[in-house]
Amino acid sequence: MAEKYVFGIDLGTTYSCISYFDENMQCIPCPSMEGPTTTPSVVRLEPGCDPVVGQAAKNTAVIYPDHTIQFVKSRIGKDATFNYGADGELTTTPIAVSAEILKKLGEDAANHTNSEVKRVVITVPAYFGDPERKATAQAGIDAGFDVLGIIEEPTAAAIYYGMNKSEQPENILVFDLGGGTFDITAMKIEGNNFTTLTTEGDHDLGGKNWDIALIDLVKQKFEDQTGYCDGYDSDIEQDLLISCEQAKIVLSQAQKASVAVTISREYRAAIEITREEFDDVTSALLDRAISLTRTVIDRVGEPITKILMVGGSTYMPQVREAIEREFPQLEIYSNEPNHSVSKGAAIFAFNKYVNPDPEELKEKSERTTSSGEKALVCLEEEIDTYKNIVTLENEINIVTVATKSLGVRILFNGTPKINNLIFKDTQLPASVTATYATNTANATRIPIRIFQANNYDEYYDVDDDLQIGQAVLELDGTLPQGAPIDVTLSISDDGLIHVKGIDVTNNIEVNANIENDAYSTK
Ligand SMILES: Nc1ncnc2c1ncn2[C@@H]1O[C@H](COP(=O)(O)OP(=O)(O)OP(=O)(O)O)[C@@H](O)[C@H]1O
Ligand SMILES: [Mg+2]
Repeated sequence: MAEKYVFGIDLGTTYSCISYFDENMQCIPCPSMEGPTTTPSVVRLEPGCDPVVGQAAKNTAVIYPDHTIQFVKSRIGKDATFNYGADGELTTTPIAVSAEILKKLGEDAANHTNSEVKRVVITVPAYFGDPERKATAQAGIDAGFDVLGIIEEPTAAAIYYGMNKSEQPENILVFDLGGGTFDITAMKIEGNNFTTLTTEGDHDLGGKNWDIALIDLVKQKFEDQTGYCDGYDSDIEQDLLISCEQAKIVLSQAQKASVAVTISREYRAAIEITREEFDDVTSALLDRAISLTRTVIDRVGEPITKILMVGGSTYMPQVREAIEREFPQLEIYSNEPNHSVSKGAAIFAFNKYVNPDPEELKEKSERTTSSGEKALVCLEEEIDTYKNIVTLENEINIVTVATKSLGVRILFNGTPKINNLIFKDTQLPASVTATYATNTANATRIPIRIFQANNYDEYYDVDDDLQIGQAVLELDGTLPQGAPIDVTLSISDDGLIHVKGIDVTNNIEVNANIENDAYSTK
């Protein structure tokens, strides 16, 4: 099968979507073989069987709760492995599970477009740190893709909104309420230049929290109606999760929805929920999103004119109503909130493909073939062919910021502290060098522990949960105590981190790879 298109993938916590940019300059989300254009990010793994991914895995989660893996995105880059199975006897990795979801998206897209799915851009939440980004890229590689880049979800949504709009520069907010997370990002759009100003997120706020609140309400009403008080087994909990999500979606259109609960012949009932009741039990969740939105508006300081609604949960009328009420100055813009991230990623993939970074291109061709030149020529010919099919008016230019502060662990007046070197909201790429002194004489290895945190402090107390990895400087063991060591932390424009150390005395430079087994493939 020939490679006709490049693709953008929104790898979501609850649903994923793959899109491409076609000959008519339209972004098209690919329907899965089951029909819908979004695929549940659910995987069923059983030893000796092929993995089952998407709607089929979600439908059977009730029957196979111990073998069904959901919300894997909240583990990626954090856990190296995790257990599943009835007694937790089986092991897999978040990267492997994510790769299964990506493979399924690739197969569905190939089936829909009749094009090989090779070159892709995958999106990540803006708040993802270095380990989560690297792990996501690794999942793409393991799925068999050539990952052209990783792009932040709000930037992708803004690209879909702003591409080729020849309007005045504007500052917008991207309000992304998805299935598992909430992201709020301020961006400046000037032509096809997309600059992130600042971002905030709540990693545990999304549609699933609304589902859980609805389940609690349904249980309460069921117990009041039937007198049942014996608890719910895991099959019934799974059943409720599916039926309450459906009821929530119905409530986005209708004023009432009903959920059937069956425990036994004696205890069963159809529970009716009104939109008012649903809004009431979920108002505290919405308040959290509104409060973070206000934080970002206040931090930016410059006027913001529009708010872009992204993520399936923004279909809930309560979200739009709260924004209208709390921020009457903002114009609300909502266009396919469940596709806009993957569509923007597809535009970005196309842009990256037809305007490749010459250095990157060279490096790639050298990596892939022994005769780099030949590959380069081939690639250029392909690009010309693609360019003949479609053209973009202007090249897309993205400016991202550090979404967390980046620092190293040091001894500060004898107390361990984290010293932030690159601060949150610094434009990327960024690189900062600081000089420290060795703590002991004749050290042969100095571990540099790297931390990312959502704060703006120059120094803060050590919190091991914030460590993202460590880089080790190997020394020859001759340095006295107090010898100067330069440490340089750099973040590339796609959010990946690099560490360099210099033994100033001997002028020996050590490029250190960050080690973190959450994204290691070994
Ligand atoms: N019409 C609707 N009304 C209410 N909620 C909806 C509707 N359609 C989808 N949702 C909810 O939107 C959520 C999925 O949204 P989306 O696909 O944007 O999330 P995601 O990308 O998986 O998550 P994240 O961005 O957090 O990784 C689910 O909780 C789903 O139930
Ligand atoms: Mg999403």
